[in-house]
Amino acid sequence: MARESLIGRMNRKVFGYLASRFPPTPWADLTRRTVETVQRQVPRSHAEKYELKTIWYWYPLYCLGGIAFVAFIILTITGILLGFYYIPDGTIQFTRGGGVTSAAYNSMNFIMNDVPFGFMIRGLHHWSAHVMIAAVFLHMMRVYFTGTYKKPRELNWLLGVVLLFVTLGFGYTGYVLPANDLSRAAATIGINMTKASPGPVFLGQFLTQLVFGETDPTGFYIIRMYWLHVFILPLVGTLLMILHMALVWIQGVGEPH
Ligand code: HEM
Repeated sequence: MARESLIGRMNRKVFGYLASRFPPTPWADLTRRTVETVQRQVPRSHAEKYELKTIWYWYPLYCLGGIAFVAFIILTITGILLGFYYIPDGTIQFTRGGGVTSAAYNSMNFIMNDVPFGFMIRGLHHWSAHVMIAAVFLHMMRVYFTGTYKKPRELNWLLGVVLLFVTLGFGYTGYVLPANDLSRAAATIGINMTKASPGPVFLGQFLTQLVFGETDPTGFYIIRMYWLHVFILPLVGTLLMILHMALVWIQGVGEPH
């Protein structure tokens, strides 16, 4: 028998991989779904295969990804509202009493005390952020302990890992925005940690300059954190979340093995 060419072998590998993860879906049937006609699960779920009775006590754990997504929607809406009043300028100004303040800090005070329902919108943003991070962690644990990170869902697990970092990035960049003492401390820690990156000194300096825009925390870093928080991370996060959930739709949700 003739030996298969290199190109042939590569084609077989690549298309074999794709076909085993994303077999052709009966797209037309998805809109008129009946139990008998549609097989969305890849492979057939454990419960279906062995015709098990419902395992209802597991089901709330399968809502965690959705809960993270709902929290993200609430964060987007409340974040847009906060953006009408927040001023991303952390440049330090000295008060008459010798304390420090900034336009960013003053704008937060304005939101809390003068904007109608401002404190509620900020509170919703704050608590939804906590819910999202908790939900993402618990969702990841559900995926791990039910073994659904395995074939054919490895790619979605990797996407999830990036989403985890995006979520944590949202948390950190948001935490430094109020420009209060706690935020300043967090920014100082972030700047010092980045400066201490392993490798040659110039690498740490370069990364700090790139991420924070300065190597000593004077308040300028707020503008970079703001841009990451309201533009870069939402853009990357939204695209990845759409892709992540599209893959769940195509591959079906796995059940415990
Ligand atoms: C912004 C964060 C995230 C959102 C909005 C999200 C959303 C979702 C949703 C709605 C599902 C459907 C099933 C369910 O809800 O349990 C899902 C499944 C999945 N997620 Fe996430 N997810 C996120 C982060 C992660 C992370 C951090 C990981 C892992 C590192 C991950 C890995 C997976 C995998 C492998 C599946 C398929 C599991 C299965 O079919 O049983 N996701 N995700």
